[in-house]
Amino acid sequence: MSHAVAEERPVEHGDALNLLRAAIAEAPGPDAAAQRAVELLHDRFAHYDWVGIYWVDVSGTELVLGPWTGPEATEHTRIPIGVGICGAAAASGQTEIVDDVNADPRYLACFSSTRSEIVVPIFAEGQVVGEIDIDGSDLAAYDQTDANFLEEMAALLAPLRPRDAA
Ligand code: SME
Repeated sequence: MSHAVAEERPVEHGDALNLLRAAIAEAPGPDAAAQRAVELLHDRFAHYDWVGIYWVDVSGTELVLGPWTGPEATEHTRIPIGVGICGAAAASGQTEIVDDVNADPRYLACFSSTRSEIVVPIFAEGQVVGEIDIDGSDLAAYDQTDANFLEEMAALLAPLRPRDAA
């Protein structure tokens, strides 16, 4: 039985999901596994220029930057839920794909090179517990294929959340 190509998962996405499963199994702990996850995404996908994970803090009101990798550190290490593209995704539980960050009034600028962004919530027990945030230097770098893939990655990352994120 054949399927339409559009329904198939690109092979590089399946490979990355398997590598993350292996990294989680082999890492000495959840922080090391989450760090490996951002590196894997950054290193294997050229359009993922900056990759970070934000976790929801214990109060449930703020996102706190966890592991990240990319050319520069961000000044946005804590983002109130509801603020910015990151805070919007955490508030709604919906993946955000922004084709042109400079045309989105919610955008919190981090890097002058960023043109587009994707933010994918991480859920545990029906609640948003964190998110994957990826910045790109091309306009409209991300599409639904990235969203589908990153939502699968997010499901694998949920058990790695720190239980005491302050
Ligand atoms: N641009 C994000 C802030 C996080 S930085 O991209 C790392 C936002 O608008 O929420």
